Amino acid sequence: MKVLGIESSCDETGVALVQAPAAGAPRLLAQALHSQVAMHADYGGVVPELASRDHIRRVLPLAREVLADAGCTLAEIDLVAYTRGPGLAGALLVGAGVAVALAAALGRPALGVHHLEGHLLSPFLAPEPPRFPFVALLVSGGHTQLMRVQGVGDYALLGETIDDAAGEAFDKSAKLLGLGYPGGPALARMAEFGDPRAWPLPRPLLHSKDLDFSFAGLKTAVLTQVRKLGPNLCEQSRADLAASTQAAIVDVLVAKTLRALSATGLRRVVVAGGVGANLRLREQLDAGAAGLGARVHYPPLALCTDNGAMIALAAALRLQGGLAGEMRRDGAFDVRPRWPLAELSPAAA
Ligand code: KG4
Ligand code: ZN
Repeated sequence: MKVLGIESSCDETGVALVQAPAAGAPRLLAQALHSQVAMHADYGGVVPELASRDHIRRVLPLAREVLADAGCTLAEIDLVAYTRGPGLAGALLVGAGVAVALAAALGRPALGVHHLEGHLLSPFLAPEPPRFPFVALLVSGGHTQLMRVQGVGDYALLGETIDDAAGEAFDKSAKLLGLGYPGGPALARMAEFGDPRAWPLPRPLLHSKDLDFSFAGLKTAVLTQVRKLGPNLCEQSRADLAASTQAAIVDVLVAKTLRALSATGLRRVVVAGGVGANLRLREQLDAGAAGLGARVHYPPLALCTDNGAMIALAAALRLQGGLAGEMRRDGAFDVRPRWPLAELSPAAA
């Protein structure tokens, strides 16, 4: 079974081809990605209309590239998967429209996939995939959630952010420090030259008993420090503030993930989403989890941020698990710009 996956929920157009045996691990045959980061950089963030138009330009050339790399023809595709949500409505419609049209032309089914399910299953493309059940820490630009994952399609929400997402906190703080967009990787690079203890920034909800997060106060604290420093905001103080911001975000993410392990009794963690690429987060979480006798699984670094491989993979795992109930052959489709992940679970159906 060959599954073509198309991702277009935000500012990356991703296409990939995954080979899924009836049982056993799916394998990535080829993938191609176009990031719109340079296009949106001038605006300091994603411009939805520009994103949609660029997806239209990129998606077919990327699909051709993937098929050529894999040495496959269109006729060999058995299923076309696409990101149905959550994300930008216009951007989602591009991927969904192309996927469903392609499926119809080929006489194959199409399947709409949840973007976060793609992220949280992406470690199954790593050399040592996790086993179920596990705790998932989903940390992207729009989401910060802890989930209990029983199996494919069985996700229970343990806690989430009550305001900004972790990626948003990185991005907004980076903007305040004049580090451009997207801020996460830029702030992480700058932080390497700074002292994480230089500024005692708040760690909201660190000691609360629940598994929720709050990051909105952090950007206000960074703004206050930037204003206080004014013209004295030199390279070193920017690096110190970057390091202190990263430390505050990572401390909270790690503490809550370890608390989720204790609360569930589980001993495996999966980290997924763009912020999962953060090396400090990886170091601290690995050390903390080891202290509890737990193991942390990550997707391959290149699959941390948005990509088509995770969408093809999630569809393949759904197929293998007999869960591809939303597979359609009638050429109809919709997108879900807002779509809680827990809605996928059997209990919610
Ligand atoms: O999962 P993703 O690619 O897109 C969404 O679905 O949101 O995540 C993007 C987020 C952005 O906020 C970006 O700044 C952040 O992930 N990010 C990072 C790093 N790489 C990406 N944050 C911290 N450190 C990084 N190395
Ligand atoms: Zn994402």
